[in-house]
Amino acid sequence: MKGLILSGGKGTRLYPLTYTRAKQLIPVANKPVLVRAIESIRDAGVTEIGIVIGQTGPEIRATIGDGSRWHVQLTYIEQPSPDGLAHAVKISQDFLRDDPFVMFLGDNVLQGGISTLIRDFAGNPWNSQIVLKEVDNPSAFGVVKLNPDGTIERLVEKPKDPPSNLALVGIYMFDHHIFEAVHAIKPSWRGELEITDAIQWLIEAGYTVSPHVHSGWWIDTGKPTDMLEANSCVLDELTPQIAPDAVIENSEVDRRVTIESGAQIINSVIHGPTIIGVNTRIENSYVGPYTSIYHDVEICGCEIDRSIVLENSRIYDPEMRLHDCLIGRNVTVRHKAAKPKTLTMNLGDHSEVWLA
Ligand code: DAU
Repeated sequence: MKGLILSGGKGTRLYPLTYTRAKQLIPVANKPVLVRAIESIRDAGVTEIGIVIGQTGPEIRATIGDGSRWHVQLTYIEQPSPDGLAHAVKISQDFLRDDPFVMFLGDNVLQGGISTLIRDFAGNPWNSQIVLKEVDNPSAFGVVKLNPDGTIERLVEKPKDPPSNLALVGIYMFDHHIFEAVHAIKPSWRGELEITDAIQWLIEAGYTVSPHVHSGWWIDTGKPTDMLEANSCVLDELTPQIAPDAVIENSEVDRRVTIESGAQIINSVIHGPTIIGVNTRIENSYVGPYTSIYHDVEICGCEIDRSIVLENSRIYDPEMRLHDCLIGRNVTVRHKAAKPKTLTMNLGDHSEVWLA
């Protein structure tokens, strides 16, 4: 069995963060979503993994390297343009050969890992296994309609009028017959070779595709609100740890807080589930539940909860509590003392600010 992680694409729905960074490298609970995908596949016993990369490939290669840190062997597969998930499979054929494989979309986060799924697939004569989850907004996903006996009736990609509320989760298992499908299908109305169409092709050609309905949480981290939700779900499951060299002075830190190496908590209150990153300094502040502060951040005179702050950012004395915020790298948010009392902003393209 091999693994294939799809990490190309543009990530436009996460602008402005994804102008300068691959969306799969944005951390959730201080760990990039792509690393979570690698670990899920490795924990299921699969160590030969291909990563499909696009224009953000150099950054992904530089961050992830050869995979030895996670005890896996990585092969990078370059996709010249994001022409669809089935196109990504097509260009990975030399790497995958005739081996069965699990394909993991590099922006998906799933509760509970994939070991059971992989075991089921290996132990059954199926040509493919897909994962489904009931959702409130099926039009945003690939959608599957099941027959009364639980087999698949049909699949459709992002339908205006969804035939069910069962979305396709971004984890798929295939044997080599998928290559017949990806070579046979034509691009969709949006110009992409859709994996949904390839799976529909398998069914029509008489191959067995087994659906598995996932009972835990699953998040496709497409939009900022999805990142915050994924962050909350993962923080809820984190086993709290305080690094031995962390400094906690005159502060209240509850038992659901993780504090990484070299972090300093001074005159502050931290309520978990929350993670404070390597060499980050929190001073005279309140950090509330569901917050991930990445490394080398400075937070002073601030109240913040249910937020993500990325590396090297500085937040000094904002007058109001920061809530539901997604703050990028090297950002400064500060109180302006000088008159006139105005809002002064220097925002990148596609930034959004909500004023109370
Ligand atoms: O997350 C589940 C959904 O993922 C499924 O329900 C849909 O059926 C499936 O089409 C897909 O929809 P998205 O619109 O969310 O796919 P997105 O374009 O975000 O791409 C998913 C991942 O694959 C992402 O990490 C980028 C990568 N990708 C995408 C394309 C189009 C590639 O590596 N190459 C590509 O050509």
